Amino acid sequence: MKAIVNTEYGPPDVLQLTEVEKPAPKDDEVLIRIYATSVNFGDIATRNFGNISHRDFFMPLPFYLIGGLSFGFSKPKNPILGNELSGEIESVGKDVRSFKSGDQVFGYSGQGMGSYAEYRCMPEDGFVGLKPVNMTYEEAAVVPYGALMALDLLRKVDIQSGQKVLINGASGGIGSAVVQLAKHYGAEVTGVCGTPRLGFVESLGADKVIDYTKEDFTQNGETYDLIVDVLGKSSFSQCKISLKEAGIYIMTSFKMRDFVDMLRTSFGGGKKAVCAILVAKPEDLVLTKELIESGKLKAVIDRSYTIEQTAEAHRYVESGQKKGNVVITVEHNNKT
Ligand SMILES: NC(=O)c1ccc[n+]([C@@H]2O[C@H](COP(=O)([O-])OP(=O)(O)OC[C@H]3O[C@@H](n4cnc5c(N)ncnc54)[C@H](OP(=O)(O)O)[C@@H]3O)[C@@H](O)[C@H]2O)c1
Repeated sequence: MKAIVNTEYGPPDVLQLTEVEKPAPKDDEVLIRIYATSVNFGDIATRNFGNISHRDFFMPLPFYLIGGLSFGFSKPKNPILGNELSGEIESVGKDVRSFKSGDQVFGYSGQGMGSYAEYRCMPEDGFVGLKPVNMTYEEAAVVPYGALMALDLLRKVDIQSGQKVLINGASGGIGSAVVQLAKHYGAEVTGVCGTPRLGFVESLGADKVIDYTKEDFTQNGETYDLIVDVLGKSSFSQCKISLKEAGIYIMTSFKMRDFVDMLRTSFGGGKKAVCAILVAKPEDLVLTKELIESGKLKAVIDRSYTIEQTAEAHRYVESGQKKGNVVITVEHNNKT
């Protein structure tokens, strides 16, 4: 089968179209004929992991070391990126009960990656589920990462209807899902992003948008029950003034000083800092499907590339211009 393989870390040019062996499903696995995959933060960061020093890494040193052991320090252990996919079940292992050949599915392969390919095997009880009926393969392939992360994040803070929520990084993979889900849970949502993406964040349902190049949200006198900082561009000390009395400041990218803030604020009442490790849960893929089918969660495709153009797709995402998601389509010669 064809796949995009990167045997070394580096710029998008390391992504090479290569013929590799087609996988065969184990007894408890399904074989998915991939029709679409995506380019998100995880693909870009993993493709370049070997060139990122632990100081520039978006997490404290222990997480960098865990990343290195998992991805490989000097060269990629797993040379096929792509952590989201959609497609059709081609065949199933002999013990598989919940899927059959021909089922239309979407899924999340996380750090196991491997979706920049024509086929991928996934365990039946892993992150694979029936595709939302109201989405194309292209749309379904760009939803799982953000939705799974956002669901876990909002569960961690026990979001309540009527709360005021600010999302710093609202236009990205995670932030755009948090905006939509926080609205679904009844929150009043403010999204912070750069100038070109203000309209995109508004279109996701944000009640208010703030352009971080023009306004510092910590200086406008507003206070929130919850501030989500996706990229770790602010800090608890800066944002404290913008939190209500029992408000939570939650970060998905953090450093040791943020850990210290979390420890300091973890006792007693008052404002809290939370460093979140987001854990995707397979059952949330079912919830994601339901949310999509009930119109609560949508996918916005900015650009679509073929698998042969994967390096170009990475270049576009890295240019910082995307407004929504970038999808990669996988053409099969004998697609029916
Ligand atoms: N804790 C965990 O378990 C976990 C799991 C997965 C990911 N993460 C973290 O999540 C982050 C990636 O999130 P993502 O996939 O949503 O990324 P993404 O799609 O690349 O989006 C990044 C967002 O950050 C915004 N941004 C850039 N510069 C900013 C600034 N100066 N101020 C405010 N916002 C700014 C961008 O806005 P504009 O484009 O509009 O400028 C965009 O909305 C990574 O840092 C990663 O470490 C953590």
